[in-house]
Amino acid sequence: MAGKIPQQFVDELLSRTDIVELINQRVPLKRAGREYQACCPFHDEKTPSFTVSPTKQFYHCFGCGAHGTAIGFLMEYDRLSFPEAIEELAARQGMQIPREINFEQGPDHRPLYELLERVNAYYREALHAHPESARAREYLRQRGLNDQIIDDYQLGFAPPGWDNVLARFGKDAKTRQLLAEAGLTTHKEGSQKHYDRLRDRIVFPILDGRGRVVGFGGRLLGEGTPKYLNSPETPVFHKGRELYGLYQARQACRELDHLLVVEGYMDVVALAQFGIRNAVATLGTATTGDHLNKLYRASNEVVFCFDGDRAGREAAWKALETALPLMKAGRQARFLFLPEGEDPDSLVRKIGRQAFLDQVQTAQPLSEFLFARLASQTDTTSIDGRARLAELARPLIAKLPAGTFRQMMEQALAERVGVAVDVPPPARPAAPRPGRRVAPRHQAPGTMPPIRRAIALVLQYPSIALGELPPGWEAIEQKGIEVLRNLVSHIRAHPETHSAALVEAVADERLRGHLAQLAVAELAVQDDAPEQLHGILSRLLEKQRAEQRNALLKSTSLSAMSEEEKQRLRELYRRS
Ligand code: UTP
Ligand code: MN
Repeated sequence: MAGKIPQQFVDELLSRTDIVELINQRVPLKRAGREYQACCPFHDEKTPSFTVSPTKQFYHCFGCGAHGTAIGFLMEYDRLSFPEAIEELAARQGMQIPREINFEQGPDHRPLYELLERVNAYYREALHAHPESARAREYLRQRGLNDQIIDDYQLGFAPPGWDNVLARFGKDAKTRQLLAEAGLTTHKEGSQKHYDRLRDRIVFPILDGRGRVVGFGGRLLGEGTPKYLNSPETPVFHKGRELYGLYQARQACRELDHLLVVEGYMDVVALAQFGIRNAVATLGTATTGDHLNKLYRASNEVVFCFDGDRAGREAAWKALETALPLMKAGRQARFLFLPEGEDPDSLVRKIGRQAFLDQVQTAQPLSEFLFARLASQTDTTSIDGRARLAELARPLIAKLPAGTFRQMMEQALAERVGVAVDVPPPARPAAPRPGRRVAPRHQAPGTMPPIRRAIALVLQYPSIALGELPPGWEAIEQKGIEVLRNLVSHIRAHPETHSAALVEAVADERLRGHLAQLAVAELAVQDDAPEQLHGILSRLLEKQRAEQRNALLKSTSLSAMSEEEKQRLRELYRRS
């Protein structure tokens, strides 16, 4: 994960960031001794067990085990990806992310974002100020949208005319090029003549995870085709990744109990108008794995709403197949089929908010939908039919990651078929999540295995690695010694480093999770961290030498020893 980003930059960023200040802006902290406390934002609690350490630049919850650095906090609390968290921290510090590490984005897209933002402001303004805008406002009113929703979703109006945007923003060749690149203007094939893509349409800006405008959808004010026009794929807009309304849903609600996936822009805003602010729409495409990963980062439960007609059921089935490999522990997917001919917009207007929410409650769990569909394709009263059911279900269940849900599905299949069905093992055993929700291992200070304790000491007091360590300690043959060696050499190369940076420097996610735990483990140190580390390593070395001496003595009698072996033995004694 940290692979592409120069570690130096991350270190620098973390050392300039004050985690207390960062968290305090989101979760008000109270001072408690050397640390700060609050009720944990990651689980429900009445008494504060969430602590932030200014010296270690770490947060840790003794209740749920959540822990991490400033980067980790932004990722969990603001639901940012790693690069986004880095960008956020860099922006706070006014630091420029070095050009070559602009992640997968490659080139600098800031001019594009800036232009999209300005054009968005223009469309919004036009909805109120353009001479023709009364029709647009009337259309929105007739669709039942009030000013609050228009504002929250930043709806706008692209006035009639071929070059409103082009003339206003495309003053020079370079911006005209940018307008085309942003998908705002287009041209006929074989012609050089550019014109505005959206004309005389209601505009729905599409925002990315950080609230930046990346594209637009535009709807005709009445009948006609195409009813909707969307931005094409651009360097900053990918239909297969963005979800309309996700940014607003997150803004409206910190903890999204579930997300509703609907088909249209209008469905999202109509539901919002009825106070249902957790709906998102795919942008005229099927739900992709990227979409689902984004959704599951924001909420553990996704409810797909589809039209109950044949096309809707086919689309739902496709979504199910996409979701299967992503059904990790804790995640849920459900399916809601609307009465034929209704979409969420029309339905919520017809039956109202509460009845709509009641319907969502009844949405079919993934397992039910899967078995119901397969059962409808087979005759489960006959042996042949049940065998067929097993054949249909096997490859689907095989897509599930290892875990309880998969086991339950295998069992459910066995019950339906009458015998256990051999399902191929998961493609890859699911790697354990980097311990966020793992309860902290409350180990009494003395009972931690020595190498682990040494690692914890170095993580919590990095400067002790700069001191003298028992000669030959690197040769200790113990599990974990390599981690310790790496930490020590990293600290020696970067003497200014600190706990948080040390943890973030680890590329392996699993190891990083372990280290993050150790970095906050209770060690009962009283100004004697250097002595403790020295002591642990000396004892391990001595133990190892004693074992080697015994082995040597056992293997040969002293008289039969070669000069070389005797010399080695003397050395093993001398060193201790
Ligand atoms: P629908 O045709 O279901 O429209 O398209 P809708 O959302 O109910 O819109 P209203 O209520 O008639 O205004 C669903 C989605 O499919 C995409 C759009 O993303 C739309 O929101 N679509 C539809 C297009 O991209 N182009 C079209 O011409 C039609
Ligand atoms: Mn509709």
